[in-house]
Amino acid sequence: MAQGMQVYQRYCSACHGPSGEGNGLAPAAAYYDPSPTNLALHGAAHAAGEYAWLIKEGNKASAMPRFQEKLDEDDIWSVVLYIRYTLADGQSGDHQH
Ligand code: HEC
Repeated sequence: MAQGMQVYQRYCSACHGPSGEGNGLAPAAAYYDPSPTNLALHGAAHAAGEYAWLIKEGNKASAMPRFQEKLDEDDIWSVVLYIRYTLADGQSGDHQH
């Protein structure tokens, strides 16, 4: 989980915000269309495999970058877990402590 947090803070929080709420500090983040997803709300809505795929491939139709070349499998899966179990904690109802 600690690894996922580091990856997230380093590569993702500029757009998705420090707690995943889509309110990143990058000046451009507010202008992206579609805007960066509120991961705290969305976190548990998708299968882990879907997230891993999106993070690797990015989305050409949006500002979501691809991380295939920047992150290894470990980093990707740790950040997926971080999103699903830490950022989305308490939002989904299907995750118990
Ligand atoms: C340059 C800004 C930017 C950065 C950096 C960024 N994202 Fe995104 N991300 C977006 C935008 C914009 C969207 C919404 C459009 C879309 O779904 O492609 C998005 C969507 C997503 C989604 C889809 C959520 C859903 O429910 O559909 C996930 C998951 C995600 N990002 C994870 C990450 C992770 C993990 C990182 C870091 C490794 C990251 N993003 C870095 C801009 C960014």
